[in-house]
Amino acid sequence: MRQRGTEPDDAGGVYDDLELPSGTWRPYTAIQMVMTIDGAITGPTDEYWPISLDADQRTFRRFRIHFDAVLHGARTLGMRIDRYMWSEELQRERERRGLSEPPLFIVVSNSGQIDPNDRVFQRHSYPIAPVLAVPEVAEVTNGLSEVAEIVRVGAKSVDLNGLVRYLASERGVRRLVCEGGAILNYHMLAARLVDEFFITVTPSIIGEPRPRTTVEGPAALPSDQLQQLELVTTATHGDEVFLRYRVRAARPLA
Ligand SMILES: NC(=O)c1ccc[n+]([C@@H]2O[C@H](COP(=O)([O-])OP(=O)(O)OC[C@H]3O[C@@H](n4cnc5c(N)ncnc54)[C@H](OP(=O)(O)O)[C@@H]3O)[C@@H](O)[C@H]2O)c1
Repeated sequence: MRQRGTEPDDAGGVYDDLELPSGTWRPYTAIQMVMTIDGAITGPTDEYWPISLDADQRTFRRFRIHFDAVLHGARTLGMRIDRYMWSEELQRERERRGLSEPPLFIVVSNSGQIDPNDRVFQRHSYPIAPVLAVPEVAEVTNGLSEVAEIVRVGAKSVDLNGLVRYLASERGVRRLVCEGGAILNYHMLAARLVDEFFITVTPSIIGEPRPRTTVEGPAALPSDQLQQLELVTTATHGDEVFLRYRVRAARPLA
């Protein structure tokens, strides 16, 4: 998880000049994560535990200028990162890239048991209501429908294919960034809905016996689905390394 750095946003991010394709039946989709040298994506406790440095923090915030929507798994809420969804400076950068509105925020949950008081639902000044994607059977926590748009897609669990179709056709989402966590990343990759994987390696070591990693599912991906990635770019900034990979197994965009 990341913590706000001390450098201002206008110092620029590593991927400011990114040019991405756009999708039609589904959005062009990138995962963006940071991990320690020993592969951990979180600190050793459930408490907020910053693992990355200024360049990654800033790059993470500014990455959103390229995307119509931001996707999170339900356990990635509460990380205090939603406050970077919209600032005047980021909005100016978006407009320079032809994006008139701030990004749509989407949370995926099978249970629907989400805290409506999470700060992402309490940003009353944010102009677009967040979407909570749940399956038909989910019993959604009281009060959520007042602060989020509930989208039911899938019978017993969220149908991610259906969700991305909805985002493309109903919400005009052409580019989507999935900001984790590990469980949602697994399901997005297993559904072959991920085109690129951006990973920052940050100079920390947690040293836990079984650290949380960037992708975690109930079992290894089947051998025909093992994701083969192709390195697109590398960049260094200070002690951090920024790796951009293309996912070869992604489903066609059109
Ligand atoms: N280092 C990084 O870059 C980074 C980035 C993001 C997060 N993190 C860390 O990762 C941790 C959270 O990751 P996580 O893997 O535990 O959880 P997660 O992926 O954020 O969320 C998991 C939850 O999302 C819902 N979900 C995921 N896939 C779904 C699917 N296909 N269909 C329907 N619902 C789905 C389920 O919610 P319900 O349980 O409500 O059904 C599931 O329990 C946190 O500690 C966070 O700090 C690190």
